[in-house]
Amino acid sequence: MINEVVVATRKNSRDNKAPIGVYFKDKKVIMHLFFGSHTYDNLLTEDYFSVNVVPPIEIAKAVLDDEDDYLYYNNIPYLKSSYYAIFYKVVKREFVYRKNKFGKSRLMIIEGEEINRVYLNNIPKPYNRADGLLVEMAVIYSRLANKNIKIDENDKKEMTNDIKKYFSIIKKVGGREHKQLAETMLRNLNLL
Ligand SMILES: Cc1cc2nc3c(=O)[nH]c(=O)nc-3n(C[C@H](O)[C@H](O)[C@H](O)COP(=O)(O)O)c2cc1C
Repeated sequence: MINEVVVATRKNSRDNKAPIGVYFKDKKVIMHLFFGSHTYDNLLTEDYFSVNVVPPIEIAKAVLDDEDDYLYYNNIPYLKSSYYAIFYKVVKREFVYRKNKFGKSRLMIIEGEEINRVYLNNIPKPYNRADGLLVEMAVIYSRLANKNIKIDENDKKEMTNDIKKYFSIIKKVGGREHKQLAETMLRNLNLL
């Protein structure tokens, strides 16, 4: 099962966060990083990172911005907004090429081993339908905004229709922050 989390890394005193889909396996975590992101670049040389289990809205925020009020465990950044954060040491890096409908992409498969974890005092909010839709918008956003990914016109049209449809529902059911984040994604894509 893929778990959508926020991965935080640090390189040259700069903190970074990104939504990433990870696999948990006992004390290990596996993630597939596409070439071109800061997370890829940071973990090419850095050995430590945090996996942050967060409310869905934080996944959308992480795709837009690296700014945060980071906390640190032995110089590893993690998010104040997490329910819990797990700290890992990289124990394996594998480099592969994968072919998908977006073309051939270079991937780094990272395996991390847990060194510690912290549980924070954040209380879950009731589920709002905009939560899931905003995460779906963030997935499409990260593909459409990525210049390394070539998307054919039909797929682009379908993704654009989907993202607009999700926005129209978010406007009806979401809170102010959901709407603002959705608007920022659409504006950045020149769709608003
Ligand atoms: C829900 C979600 C899951 C994602 N999963 C991955 C993933 O598993 N691997 C990856 O390389 N990018 C993934 N992405 C895309 C990255 O988050 C995106 O490229 C991001 O801009 C990278 O940020 P960075 O440059 O700060 O590292 C995902 C995006 C979303 C919204």
